[in-house]
Amino acid sequence: MVQPLRAADVPAAIALLERVGLPSGAANLARYLRWQPAGAWGVVEHGALVGMVTLLQFGHVGFVGCMAVDPGRQARGLGRVLLEHAHAAGRRAGVITLLLEATPSGQRLYEKLGYVVDHETLIVSRSRVAPSDPVALDHERRAIFELDRGATGSPRDVMIGGLIDEGRGGVERTTVLAGYGLVVGDRLGPVIARDPGAGRALVDRLAGACTVAAVPAPNEPAMAAFAANGFGYTRSLRRMRLGPPVGSNPAWLWSLASSGAG
Ligand SMILES: CC(C)(COP(=O)(O)OP(=O)(O)OC[C@H]1O[C@@H](n2cnc3c(N)ncnc32)[C@H](O)[C@@H]1OP(=O)(O)O)[C@@H](O)C(=O)NCCC(=O)NCCS
Repeated sequence: MVQPLRAADVPAAIALLERVGLPSGAANLARYLRWQPAGAWGVVEHGALVGMVTLLQFGHVGFVGCMAVDPGRQARGLGRVLLEHAHAAGRRAGVITLLLEATPSGQRLYEKLGYVVDHETLIVSRSRVAPSDPVALDHERRAIFELDRGATGSPRDVMIGGLIDEGRGGVERTTVLAGYGLVVGDRLGPVIARDPGAGRALVDRLAGACTVAAVPAPNEPAMAAFAANGFGYTRSLRRMRLGPPVGSNPAWLWSLASSGAG
């Protein structure tokens, strides 16, 4: 009963994500399908989409997003069926570790399937915008892919390349790239930096045009940088993992691309 979601299903899927209170999923779903056309599944009942999930594969890492079951159909096992379907598809394609950012309602389901909490992720936001000067980053593409891989332990070239094409941003570098940040719409992220000085400089330089970011709570310099730029707490998610650690470098992770993609 689980079937692939296609481009034509996007409007119904966005409506479902909005109904269950996942606005970031609604804003990003079309991107996820662009990056991985075969990475989204849904359940249709009587012609209506009542459940969905996405999975972005970054090498041995699979990132689960957009887990949603229509409020009238929740707590009847549909979420588990969808998630297990995504797990099986990912494992067939070589995924070893699954990651996700859990809402409180999702966390219970994920714990039942064996996920553990790695850390908290804070969604921070602000209402005002100020001048900032993001630039095109096409010429830094290769160095950005390499730095991103060092930070996350996984090859995210397709996603990061797509965000470079779509957005603007900034880099900090000496002879090597010390950090990069991307502004996509009203969001600042990902921001990846090898050292606190580079991360702070990127947030200070790019935050002006942005109103939202998702920041790993253990990264104290990142939390301080966003607070200094007027961002305040909105809500928290839990980064959860099923499988061995992926070899990421948490101190380099300053903000996420989105909660459905990491
Ligand atoms: C999270 C969500 C997708 C789960 O879908 P669902 O169809 O309700 O979940 P299931 O019925 O498959 O539940 C799976 C398991 O979790 C348990 N569970 C689900 N909700 C629970 C709750 N509120 N309290 C305790 N256990 C719960 C069920 O008992 C079930 O366990 P079992 O299979 O051992 O019986 C759905 O609640 C939802 O759309 N929530 C709003 C959007 C959201 O927050 N998504 C998560 C984003 S990370």
